[in-house]
Amino acid sequence: MTSTIFTGIAELVTGDALLEGADHSEHLGRLSHAAVVVQDGLIAWVGPASQAPAADESQDVGGRAVIPGFVDSHSHLVFAGDRSAEFAARMTGVRYDGGGIATSVSATRAASDDVLRALVARRVAEMRAQGTTTVEIKSGYGLSVQDEARSLRIAAEFSSETTFLGAHVVPPEFAGRRSEYVDLVTGAMLSACVPHARWIDVFCEPHSAHAFTEDEARVVLSAGRGAGLGLRVHANQLGHGPGVRLAVELGAASVDHCTYLSAGDVERLAAAAATTVATLLPGVEFSTRSPYPDARRLIDAGASIALASDCNPGTCYSSSIPFVLALAVREMRLTPAEALLAATSGGAKSLRRKDIGVICVGNRADLTVLDAPSYLHLFYRAGVPIVRVLDPAGRHGH
Ligand code: NIG
Ligand code: FE
Repeated sequence: MTSTIFTGIAELVTGDALLEGADHSEHLGRLSHAAVVVQDGLIAWVGPASQAPAADESQDVGGRAVIPGFVDSHSHLVFAGDRSAEFAARMTGVRYDGGGIATSVSATRAASDDVLRALVARRVAEMRAQGTTTVEIKSGYGLSVQDEARSLRIAAEFSSETTFLGAHVVPPEFAGRRSEYVDLVTGAMLSACVPHARWIDVFCEPHSAHAFTEDEARVVLSAGRGAGLGLRVHANQLGHGPGVRLAVELGAASVDHCTYLSAGDVERLAAAAATTVATLLPGVEFSTRSPYPDARRLIDAGASIALASDCNPGTCYSSSIPFVLALAVREMRLTPAEALLAATSGGAKSLRRKDIGVICVGNRADLTVLDAPSYLHLFYRAGVPIVRVLDPAGRHGH
């Protein structure tokens, strides 16, 4: 199989804490004048260009910066319909409470497989065009046995990181029959979805009439775990609550949103840093006019964090990790290095993946290139489309 060497890398951010000769300040594993050799879709060599081995083909990236492809560890890409009017209403002060999810559920149920597949394909392409090389995709707009299973079947055509979110909200036809819906989610729906899912998730939010309580969430997550799925939780998005505590208690890989955290929640996340990643989704706070999560407090306490898009029709219809990074630095006071690592190795950790998120030998050759000499331009040039995924086959378009 052909090997390709990428040269002309003015700055390589590997995220690899062990890379020999790299500048490890801020844990970036940064190398100037670097080269990367790719073979069979994997990284075969990383180091200073002056020491690079020979390869079959060579591609000069022309003095640009190369970073790990973004790992977007939280998205809801399988939906039809439009809720832009809900966004506009929020900008005038209307609060988000999850009620609009029902609108997306009816549009999604009404869409054909082909229409849904085309919508997901377009959104995944949009992400890739902005530097994302791995995306986790949740169901959650089907909310019937058939519609959840087909959402996951379609999601699995695009990613191995698929998440069953039957417990997104109680659908309208189950109004007043919550426990019957939880029985369905943990019974027939779970069985139909397990073949197409790696994870299970639940929207645990005591402040929304639409979402699930601590007890309901525990039942859903335990059933998912029993069926072999890994755990993720939507928690503490709309107010303080039990979601973070529950996620840590159950050893979830990721607890997402974390917008409202008590001192106890922060301590728990710090103590669970090896197991549970706090996944922050600042595009949601932007699009719902909410306060941003206290990322500094989490980092300073020693918690593990990730940054992801949460791309969905309600709380954030943005697929852009560069946008999320800009918010994290400008609004949440992360350093550029902290933000970049949270959207690469942080996302990988939340998916319990070691083969992505870091540029090192043996990992997947997921390389993102910037039309700029340093990763700092990602933040410095916010809003400018300077990011693109480097084709592992070696074709380097401009
Ligand atoms: O992550 N909070 C729950 N679920 C999504 C939003 C879903 C929607 O409003 O369509 C979220 O924010
Ligand atoms: Fe979400």
